[in-house]
Amino acid sequence: MQKTIGVLTSGGDAPGMNAAVRAVTRAAIEKGFKVIGIRRGYNGLLNGDVFEMNARAVSDIIQRGGTEIFTARCKEFKDWEYVLKAKDKCVELGISGIVVIGGDGSFRGAADLSKAGIPCVGVPGTIDNDIQCTEYTIGYDTAMNTVMELVDKLRDTSHSHERCAVVEVMGRNAGHIALNTGIACGATAILVPEVAYDIEKDVIAKIKEGQAAGKEQFIVVVAEGIGGTEEIAKKIEAATGVESRATILGHVQRGGSPTVRDRVMASEMGYYAVELLEKGIGNRVIGLQNSKVCDFDIQEALSMKKPFNERLYKIANEISL
Ligand code: ADP
Ligand code: F6P
Repeated sequence: MQKTIGVLTSGGDAPGMNAAVRAVTRAAIEKGFKVIGIRRGYNGLLNGDVFEMNARAVSDIIQRGGTEIFTARCKEFKDWEYVLKAKDKCVELGISGIVVIGGDGSFRGAADLSKAGIPCVGVPGTIDNDIQCTEYTIGYDTAMNTVMELVDKLRDTSHSHERCAVVEVMGRNAGHIALNTGIACGATAILVPEVAYDIEKDVIAKIKEGQAAGKEQFIVVVAEGIGGTEEIAKKIEAATGVESRATILGHVQRGGSPTVRDRVMASEMGYYAVELLEKGIGNRVIGLQNSKVCDFDIQEALSMKKPFNERLYKIANEISL
Protein backbone atom coordinates (compact mmCIF):
# COMPACT_ATOMS: atom_id res chain seq x y z
CA MET A 1 0.00 0.00 0.00
CA GLN A 2 1.22 3.55 -0.77
CA LYS A 3 2.56 5.19 2.38
CA THR A 4 1.38 8.65 3.40
CA ILE A 5 3.32 11.43 5.05
CA GLY A 6 1.90 14.63 6.50
CA VAL A 7 3.39 18.11 6.64
CA LEU A 8 2.49 20.97 8.99
CA THR A 9 3.80 24.38 10.06
CA SER A 10 3.57 25.38 13.73
CA GLY A 11 4.38 28.33 16.01
CA GLY A 12 5.37 31.76 14.66
CA ASP A 13 5.54 31.82 10.86
CA ALA A 14 8.81 32.46 9.07
CA PRO A 15 9.69 33.34 5.46
CA GLY A 16 10.79 30.13 3.75
CA MET A 17 8.22 27.88 5.43
CA ASN A 18 6.44 27.62 2.07
CA ALA A 19 9.67 26.62 0.36
CA ALA A 20 10.07 23.89 3.00
CA VAL A 21 6.48 22.64 2.49
CA ARG A 22 7.12 22.57 -1.25
CA ALA A 23 10.35 20.60 -0.86
CA VAL A 24 8.74 18.09 1.51
CA THR A 25 5.76 17.61 -0.80
CA ARG A 26 7.76 17.22 -4.01
CA ALA A 27 10.46 15.00 -2.41
CA ALA A 28 7.81 12.75 -0.90
CA ILE A 29 5.87 12.45 -4.16
CA GLU A 30 9.11 11.71 -6.00
CA LYS A 31 9.80 8.90 -3.53
CA GLY A 32 6.35 7.39 -4.03
CA PHE A 33 4.52 8.74 -0.96
CA LYS A 34 1.07 10.22 -0.81
CA VAL A 35 1.24 13.65 0.89
CA ILE A 36 -1.29 15.17 3.25
CA GLY A 37 -1.11 18.88 4.08
CA ILE A 38 -2.21 19.57 7.66
CA ARG A 39 -3.61 23.07 8.18
CA ARG A 40 -2.97 25.22 11.28
CA GLY A 41 -0.29 23.08 12.90
CA TYR A 42 -1.27 20.52 15.51
CA ASN A 43 -4.79 22.02 15.63
CA GLY A 44 -5.41 20.80 12.10
CA LEU A 45 -4.21 17.35 13.01
CA LEU A 46 -6.58 17.16 15.98
CA ASN A 47 -9.52 18.46 13.92
CA GLY A 48 -8.77 16.49 10.78
CA ASP A 49 -8.29 19.76 8.86
CA VAL A 50 -6.22 18.13 6.12
CA PHE A 51 -6.06 17.87 2.33
CA GLU A 52 -4.20 15.77 -0.17
CA MET A 53 -1.33 17.57 -1.89
CA ASN A 54 0.01 16.88 -5.34
CA ALA A 55 3.06 18.48 -6.95
CA ARG A 56 0.90 21.33 -8.31
CA ALA A 57 -0.55 22.12 -4.87
CA VAL A 58 2.82 23.67 -4.00
CA SER A 59 3.35 25.52 -7.29
CA ASP A 60 3.95 29.25 -7.07
CA ILE A 61 4.65 29.31 -3.31
CA ILE A 62 8.46 29.14 -3.09
CA GLN A 63 8.66 32.93 -3.36
CA ARG A 64 5.91 33.70 -0.84
CA GLY A 65 6.39 34.67 2.78
CA GLY A 66 4.18 33.24 5.53
CA THR A 67 2.78 29.74 5.25
CA GLU A 68 0.06 28.74 2.81
CA ILE A 69 -1.02 25.86 5.07
CA PHE A 70 -1.40 28.29 7.99
CA THR A 71 0.19 28.02 11.40
CA ALA A 72 -1.08 28.04 14.97
CA ARG A 73 -0.10 27.52 18.55
CA CYS A 74 -1.95 24.59 20.06
CA LYS A 75 -1.95 24.57 23.87
CA GLU A 76 -3.77 21.21 24.11
CA PHE A 77 -0.91 19.43 22.42
CA LYS A 78 1.15 19.71 25.61
CA ASP A 79 -1.29 17.16 27.14
CA TRP A 80 -0.58 13.52 26.42
CA GLU A 81 -4.32 12.90 26.01
CA TYR A 82 -4.30 15.14 22.91
CA VAL A 83 -1.11 13.60 21.56
CA LEU A 84 -2.92 10.24 21.65
CA LYS A 85 -5.92 11.79 19.87
CA ALA A 86 -3.56 13.08 17.18
CA LYS A 87 -2.01 9.64 16.87
CA ASP A 88 -5.48 8.10 16.39
CA LYS A 89 -6.20 10.70 13.72
CA CYS A 90 -2.98 9.76 11.93
CA VAL A 91 -3.97 6.09 12.01
CA GLU A 92 -7.43 7.00 10.66
CA LEU A 93 -5.89 9.06 7.85
CA GLY A 94 -3.18 6.49 7.15
CA ILE A 95 -0.40 8.98 7.98
CA SER A 96 2.78 7.08 8.78
CA GLY A 97 5.11 10.04 9.39
CA ILE A 98 4.98 13.85 9.70
CA VAL A 99 7.37 16.67 8.89
CA VAL A 100 6.89 19.44 11.47
CA ILE A 101 8.21 22.86 10.43
CA GLY A 102 8.55 25.21 13.41
CA GLY A 103 10.52 25.98 16.56
CA ASP A 104 11.37 24.32 19.91
CA GLY A 105 7.78 23.97 21.12
CA SER A 106 6.77 22.39 17.84
CA PHE A 107 9.63 19.90 18.20
CA ARG A 108 8.46 18.95 21.71
CA GLY A 109 5.12 18.07 20.13
CA ALA A 110 6.93 16.12 17.39
CA ALA A 111 8.88 14.17 20.03
CA ASP A 112 5.65 13.33 21.88
CA LEU A 113 3.89 12.20 18.72
CA SER A 114 6.92 10.08 17.77
CA LYS A 115 6.75 8.49 21.22
CA ALA A 116 3.07 7.74 20.63
CA GLY A 117 4.04 5.82 17.50
CA ILE A 118 3.99 8.29 14.60
CA PRO A 119 7.54 9.10 13.46
CA CYS A 120 8.00 12.87 13.16
CA VAL A 121 10.92 14.93 11.88
CA GLY A 122 11.35 18.61 12.80
CA VAL A 123 12.59 21.24 10.36
CA PRO A 124 13.77 24.45 12.08
CA GLY A 125 11.66 27.40 10.97
CA THR A 126 11.79 30.61 13.01
CA ILE A 127 13.19 34.06 12.33
CA ASP A 128 14.92 34.13 15.74
CA ASN A 129 17.63 31.53 14.90
CA ASP A 130 17.25 30.39 18.50
CA ILE A 131 17.18 26.62 18.00
CA GLN A 132 20.15 25.15 19.82
CA CYS A 133 21.11 22.28 17.54
CA THR A 134 21.40 24.29 14.36
CA GLU A 135 23.55 27.13 13.10
CA TYR A 136 20.64 28.30 10.97
CA THR A 137 16.85 28.41 11.08
CA ILE A 138 14.63 29.08 8.07
CA GLY A 139 13.46 32.71 7.98
CA TYR A 140 16.43 34.22 9.79
CA ASP A 141 18.15 35.71 6.74
CA THR A 142 14.97 37.22 5.29
CA ALA A 143 14.02 38.76 8.64
CA MET A 144 17.48 40.29 9.07
CA ASN A 145 17.41 41.76 5.58
CA THR A 146 14.00 43.26 6.32
CA VAL A 147 15.36 44.81 9.53
CA MET A 148 18.39 46.17 7.68
CA GLU A 149 16.23 47.81 5.02
CA LEU A 150 13.98 49.39 7.63
CA VAL A 151 16.82 50.64 9.82
CA ASP A 152 18.51 52.14 6.74
CA LYS A 153 15.30 54.11 6.21
CA LEU A 154 15.27 55.19 9.85
CA ARG A 155 18.86 56.32 9.42
CA ASP A 156 17.78 58.79 6.70
CA THR A 157 15.34 60.54 8.98
CA SER A 158 17.60 60.30 12.04
CA HIS A 159 20.41 61.85 10.04
CA SER A 160 18.19 64.71 8.83
CA HIS A 161 17.06 65.54 12.37
CA GLU A 162 20.37 64.63 14.07
CA ARG A 163 18.55 62.20 16.30
CA CYS A 164 19.09 58.86 17.94
CA ALA A 165 16.92 55.99 16.61
CA VAL A 166 16.29 53.32 19.23
CA VAL A 167 15.04 50.30 17.31
CA GLU A 168 13.51 47.20 18.85
CA VAL A 169 13.90 44.04 16.78
CA MET A 170 12.37 40.59 17.34
CA GLY A 171 14.01 37.95 19.48
CA ARG A 172 12.11 37.00 22.61
CA ASN A 173 15.00 35.14 24.24
CA ALA A 174 17.77 35.58 21.72
CA GLY A 175 19.83 38.47 20.42
CA HIS A 176 21.00 36.96 17.11
CA ILE A 177 18.86 39.25 14.94
CA ALA A 178 19.85 42.29 17.04
CA LEU A 179 23.56 41.53 16.94
CA ASN A 180 23.79 40.90 13.21
CA THR A 181 21.50 43.71 12.11
CA GLY A 182 23.16 46.05 14.61
CA ILE A 183 26.50 45.41 12.92
CA ALA A 184 24.99 45.63 9.44
CA CYS A 185 23.38 48.99 10.22
CA GLY A 186 26.31 50.53 12.05
CA ALA A 187 24.60 50.74 15.44
CA THR A 188 26.36 52.65 18.21
CA ALA A 189 25.06 50.17 20.79
CA ILE A 190 23.38 46.75 20.64
CA LEU A 191 21.46 45.37 23.61
CA VAL A 192 20.80 41.63 23.73
CA PRO A 193 19.41 39.31 26.42
CA GLU A 194 22.61 37.21 26.41
CA VAL A 195 24.82 40.06 27.69
CA ALA A 196 24.16 42.14 30.82
CA TYR A 197 24.32 45.86 30.13
CA ASP A 198 24.63 49.15 31.96
CA ILE A 199 22.75 51.94 30.20
CA GLU A 200 25.19 54.59 31.46
CA LYS A 201 28.36 52.83 30.42
CA ASP A 202 27.25 50.84 27.38
CA VAL A 203 24.88 53.31 25.74
CA ILE A 204 24.96 56.86 27.12
CA ALA A 205 28.75 57.10 27.50
CA LYS A 206 29.19 55.83 23.93
CA ILE A 207 26.77 58.39 22.56
CA LYS A 208 28.56 61.15 24.49
CA GLU A 209 31.87 59.95 23.11
CA GLY A 210 30.37 60.04 19.62
CA GLN A 211 29.03 63.57 20.20
CA ALA A 212 32.49 64.72 21.31
CA ALA A 213 33.90 63.24 18.10
CA GLY A 214 31.38 65.13 15.96
CA LYS A 215 28.85 62.36 15.41
CA GLU A 216 25.36 63.74 14.83
CA GLN A 217 23.08 60.72 14.63
CA PHE A 218 22.96 57.42 16.43
CA ILE A 219 21.33 54.03 16.13
CA VAL A 220 20.74 51.79 19.11
CA VAL A 221 19.40 48.29 18.40
CA VAL A 222 17.49 46.61 21.22
CA ALA A 223 16.43 42.95 21.16
CA GLU A 224 12.78 42.37 22.10
CA GLY A 225 13.89 40.25 25.08
CA ILE A 226 15.40 43.38 26.70
CA GLY A 227 12.14 45.38 26.46
CA GLY A 228 11.61 48.96 27.67
CA THR A 229 12.61 50.49 24.32
CA GLU A 230 10.61 53.71 24.89
CA GLU A 231 12.25 54.19 28.31
CA ILE A 232 15.70 53.62 26.85
CA ALA A 233 15.04 56.36 24.26
CA LYS A 234 13.85 58.75 27.01
CA LYS A 235 16.94 58.06 29.13
CA ILE A 236 19.25 58.67 26.18
CA GLU A 237 17.56 61.99 25.38
CA ALA A 238 17.63 63.14 29.01
CA ALA A 239 21.30 62.24 29.51
CA THR A 240 22.75 63.37 26.18
CA GLY A 241 20.41 66.03 24.84
CA VAL A 242 20.15 64.07 21.56
CA GLU A 243 16.52 63.90 20.52
CA SER A 244 15.65 60.20 20.53
CA ARG A 245 12.81 58.20 19.02
CA ALA A 246 11.85 54.61 19.74
CA THR A 247 10.66 52.37 16.90
CA ILE A 248 9.35 48.87 17.49
CA LEU A 249 9.59 47.04 14.17
CA GLY A 250 7.26 44.21 15.21
CA HIS A 251 5.65 41.68 12.90
CA VAL A 252 6.78 43.29 9.67
CA GLN A 253 9.98 41.34 10.37
CA ARG A 254 8.15 38.05 9.89
CA GLY A 255 6.83 38.86 6.42
CA GLY A 256 8.18 39.16 2.92
CA SER A 257 9.50 37.04 0.13
CA PRO A 258 12.25 34.68 1.37
CA THR A 259 15.85 35.34 0.38
CA VAL A 260 17.93 32.88 -1.64
CA ARG A 261 19.46 31.55 1.58
CA ASP A 262 16.07 30.80 3.10
CA ARG A 263 14.68 29.17 -0.03
CA VAL A 264 17.74 26.96 -0.49
CA MET A 265 18.03 26.02 3.20
CA ALA A 266 14.30 25.21 3.32
CA SER A 267 14.59 23.05 0.22
CA GLU A 268 17.61 21.15 1.51
CA MET A 269 16.25 20.64 5.02
CA GLY A 270 12.78 19.66 3.77
CA TYR A 271 14.29 17.09 1.41
CA TYR A 272 16.50 15.66 4.18
CA ALA A 273 13.47 15.30 6.48
CA VAL A 274 11.67 13.18 3.87
CA GLU A 275 14.78 11.01 3.43
CA LEU A 276 14.63 10.20 7.15
CA LEU A 277 10.93 9.34 7.06
CA GLU A 278 11.53 7.20 3.99
CA LYS A 279 13.90 5.13 6.14
CA GLY A 280 11.23 4.96 8.87
CA ILE A 281 13.31 7.21 11.16
CA GLY A 282 11.42 9.60 13.46
CA ASN A 283 12.01 11.68 16.60
CA ARG A 284 14.72 13.63 14.77
CA VAL A 285 15.27 17.29 14.08
CA ILE A 286 17.21 18.67 11.14
CA GLY A 287 20.09 21.05 11.81
CA LEU A 288 22.97 22.78 10.13
CA GLN A 289 26.41 22.13 11.69
CA ASN A 290 29.67 23.36 10.12
CA SER A 291 27.51 24.35 7.14
CA LYS A 292 26.32 20.75 6.61
CA VAL A 293 22.74 19.59 6.99
CA CYS A 294 22.47 16.83 9.60
CA ASP A 295 19.98 15.44 12.12
CA PHE A 296 19.69 14.98 15.88
CA ASP A 297 17.54 13.11 18.35
CA ILE A 298 14.87 15.65 19.40
CA GLN A 299 15.52 15.39 23.16
CA GLU A 300 19.25 15.72 22.60
CA ALA A 301 18.64 18.72 20.32
CA LEU A 302 16.43 20.42 22.90
CA SER A 303 19.03 20.01 25.64
CA MET A 304 21.88 21.48 23.59
CA LYS A 305 23.26 24.98 24.22
CA LYS A 306 23.85 27.45 21.42
CA PRO A 307 26.76 29.76 22.09
CA PHE A 308 26.21 33.49 21.62
CA ASN A 309 28.73 34.98 19.20
CA GLU A 310 30.80 36.88 21.81
CA ARG A 311 33.49 37.75 19.29
CA LEU A 312 31.01 39.36 16.91
CA TYR A 313 29.55 41.28 19.86
CA LYS A 314 33.03 42.53 20.77
CA ILE A 315 33.70 43.53 17.17
CA ALA A 316 30.36 45.36 17.01
CA ASN A 317 31.31 47.38 20.09
CA GLU A 318 34.83 48.17 18.98
CA ILE A 319 33.90 49.41 15.50
CA SER A 320 30.92 51.50 16.55
CA LEU A 321 32.83 54.63 17.53
P1 ADP B 1 7.05 29.91 18.72
O1 ADP B 1 8.36 30.09 19.42
O2 ADP B 1 6.82 30.83 17.60
O3 ADP B 1 5.88 29.82 19.65
P2 ADP B 1 7.25 27.06 18.61
O4 ADP B 1 7.66 26.12 17.56
O5 ADP B 1 8.04 27.05 19.86
O6 ADP B 1 7.17 28.50 17.99
O7 ADP B 1 5.75 26.76 18.82
C1 ADP B 1 5.13 26.56 20.02
C2 ADP B 1 3.93 25.67 19.74
O8 ADP B 1 4.35 24.32 19.65
C3 ADP B 1 2.92 25.64 20.84
O9 ADP B 1 2.03 26.68 20.84
C4 ADP B 1 2.21 24.33 20.53
O10 ADP B 1 1.32 24.47 19.46
C5 ADP B 1 3.29 23.48 19.99
N1 ADP B 1 3.62 22.43 20.97
C6 ADP B 1 3.27 21.16 20.79
N2 ADP B 1 3.69 20.40 21.80
C7 ADP B 1 4.33 21.19 22.65
C8 ADP B 1 4.99 20.98 23.90
N3 ADP B 1 5.07 19.75 24.44
N4 ADP B 1 5.54 22.06 24.51
C9 ADP B 1 5.48 23.27 23.95
N5 ADP B 1 4.87 23.53 22.76
C10 ADP B 1 4.29 22.51 22.13
O1 F6P C 1 9.55 33.20 17.62
C1 F6P C 1 9.40 34.14 16.63
C2 F6P C 1 8.81 35.40 17.16
O2 F6P C 1 8.67 36.25 16.05
C3 F6P C 1 9.54 36.08 18.30
O3 F6P C 1 10.67 36.80 17.91
C4 F6P C 1 8.48 36.94 18.90
O4 F6P C 1 8.72 37.21 20.24
C5 F6P C 1 7.27 36.08 18.76
O5 F6P C 1 7.52 35.20 17.68
C6 F6P C 1 6.00 36.86 18.55
O6 F6P C 1 4.98 35.98 18.40
P1 F6P C 1 3.44 36.34 18.15
O7 F6P C 1 3.12 35.77 16.83
O8 F6P C 1 2.72 35.62 19.22
O9 F6P C 1 3.27 37.81 18.24
